Amino acid sequence: MRGKFISLEGGEGSGKTTAINFIQEWLESHDIPYLMTREPGGTPLAEEIRQLVLASRDEKVNDTTELLLVFAARAQHLAEKIQPALDKGIWVISDRFLDSSYVYQGKARGGDVSVIDQLSAWVVGDNKPDATLLLDISVQQGQQRVAQRKQQDRLDNESIAFHEKVREGFLERARVDSDRIKVIDASLTLNEVKAQIESQLMALNHAWAGEAE
Ligand SMILES: Nc1ncnc2c1ncn2[C@@H]1O[C@H](COP(=O)(O)OP(=O)(O)OP(=O)(O)O)[C@@H](O)[C@H]1O
Ligand SMILES: [Mg+2]
Repeated sequence: MRGKFISLEGGEGSGKTTAINFIQEWLESHDIPYLMTREPGGTPLAEEIRQLVLASRDEKVNDTTELLLVFAARAQHLAEKIQPALDKGIWVISDRFLDSSYVYQGKARGGDVSVIDQLSAWVVGDNKPDATLLLDISVQQGQQRVAQRKQQDRLDNESIAFHEKVREGFLERARVDSDRIKVIDASLTLNEVKAQIESQLMALNHAWAGEAE
């Protein structure tokens, strides 16, 4: 039985890492085999590409370069880590995946969405997540939550307008792909956020158990 593939999406400070820690506890308590991973990255080569993408540098990073780098990392991640795990019945939980490309390289950077569609068809094909949990929070609240963090990366240092486009981009994607992308109100207390996530996990686990019969 194929594992379930879940991605977490949302802007900086929306609570993706916090949600993943909760999902890990939940999967353990339900004896479900799982693998935690992240994008860009997830394999040694893809993590090297991540460093290239996120490093602060004097040289201007060309938008096409950034787009191709994240898809190069994704091709490696899917082939060498995600697919083999799903094939073995392991659930895969990824901190960011395909939707971040549409939102960061597309909506926020103004990249050509039809190009991203082509890269998605080529690199990801039908291997989209079974469910994507979109942690939605206002830019201001997200920034407040990460304010205490010491090291900022290249994307954290973008303008407020950039982060507003990121939020709107994610919500637009959720509107057009509402079966897959579940919007979680991340402005609420941790317990309330966990409850929303748990109900999505229960639905996925129910579907998974049904597939075994
Ligand atoms: N529901 C919540 N209520 C209050 N604080 C929260 C909540 N969820 C997360 N936080 C806190 O907000 C901060 C950012 O959360 P987290 O690191 O999970 O976000 P993230 O989406 O992973 O951010 P990044 O994009 O930078 O990786 C952390 O200090 C975390 O403890
Ligand atoms: Mg995080």
